[in-house]
Amino acid sequence: MLKDTKSKEIFEHACEVMPGGVNSPVRAYRAVGLTPRFIDHARGSKIYDVDGNEYIDYIGSWGPMILGHARREVVDAVCRAAERGTSYGAPTLAEVELAEMIIEAVPCADMVRLVNSGTEAVMSAVRAARGYTGRELIVKFEGCYHGHSDGLLVKAGSGLLTENVPDSAGVPAAFAASTLTANYNDEDSVRDIFEACGNKIAALIVEPVAANMGVVPPKLGFLQFLRKITRDYGTVLIFDEVITGFRLSYGGASQYYGVTPDMATLGKIIGGGMPLAAYCGKKEIMSMVSPTGPVYQAGTLSGNPAAVAAGLATLKLLKANPSVYAAIDQKGAGLADALTTAIEKYHIPATLNRVGSLLSVFFTDQTVETYADVTTTDLELFKRYFAKMLDQGIYIAPSQFEAVFVGAEHSDADLAATKKAINKAMMELSAEGL
Ligand SMILES: Cc1ncc(COP(=O)(O)O)c(C=O)c1O
Repeated sequence: MLKDTKSKEIFEHACEVMPGGVNSPVRAYRAVGLTPRFIDHARGSKIYDVDGNEYIDYIGSWGPMILGHARREVVDAVCRAAERGTSYGAPTLAEVELAEMIIEAVPCADMVRLVNSGTEAVMSAVRAARGYTGRELIVKFEGCYHGHSDGLLVKAGSGLLTENVPDSAGVPAAFAASTLTANYNDEDSVRDIFEACGNKIAALIVEPVAANMGVVPPKLGFLQFLRKITRDYGTVLIFDEVITGFRLSYGGASQYYGVTPDMATLGKIIGGGMPLAAYCGKKEIMSMVSPTGPVYQAGTLSGNPAAVAAGLATLKLLKANPSVYAAIDQKGAGLADALTTAIEKYHIPATLNRVGSLLSVFFTDQTVETYADVTTTDLELFKRYFAKMLDQGIYIAPSQFEAVFVGAEHSDADLAATKKAINKAMMELSAEGL
């Protein structure tokens, strides 16, 4: 077993001063019954804990670190920006440059507003859509996560699934009442809602690839169907690309699947690991946002210079190296093959989903296309698999309902070590009994 003495000590104290010892619930490792590793530093594809253990990191800060940790160009850009002042509360040229890069990349983006987190981006996009349409209802999908704002914590995927909390306490029923939920990949469930009240629906929001109930790709034609039905009813279609943006392709899932929504939300990669997110969309919708329009939204630290510098450096690197996308896709495919081979070889009741550099192994013997399929997974088996991977120095999310994030810095040696670890973990699971 890898040593975790120092992590344990810190965690014990952390639990006295922070709820659950963490600042975001899934970090607490409760679903896997272990002590979270307290991180000392990270570089490239590796992350190091306070006990001196080295791990190959497939969490990548839950998505942002597509280029690996402490990338020289990004760190230098942040340092240079910070030297000039960490916050001005006034506009800068760099913000305009970042907005231009986003507009150039993201198909629906005529205009952009920078904010500090994915939660804020989604909350603000929904408000803009409501202001634009003059309607109140929104539609989301069961198992999709869009941050922790009140109206979106309904059937909201990963963190809540991991913690086994169906919905959050503290959300007024009236807030949740304006959120309708449909089933991901189930056109009929969407059609039923629109037939019942389509002309009252301001926005439909979707993760174009669901990645917060584990990775569940859209069925062929599903996104096109959403595009059509929202257009028919005058509803704003929002792609939540906080995970998929600049990951599935430089233009995100929208470019990858060739479907252009009315708005998109971005986060994670566009901040290069710093707190930065954005919402963007068609000019007529974005013009509704304050100060040009009546939809109020603001932020003391929005467009923070150090965060913008990290985001710009990251996007510039991605733009200059378009082959990164084929490379991470290939690495993802290699891992997926290794998992599938081990699953078959050791007769593990598991199945694999992958889109590009996002993948999930689900411990169930059925294919996973919907949220209902996700709920058939064997969480005990995941827990055992997780412990075996962690102990071999492979750092994956401590939850069945999160993605494995493959990045540009994962080397052939990392992948070979990971494949070996997968084989060993699956072999042991099988030998110990399923
Ligand atoms: C698809 C999606 N939307 C929104 C969010 C919320 O982003 P943040 O955690 O930055 O608030 C997340 C976070 O994981 C996400 O995956």
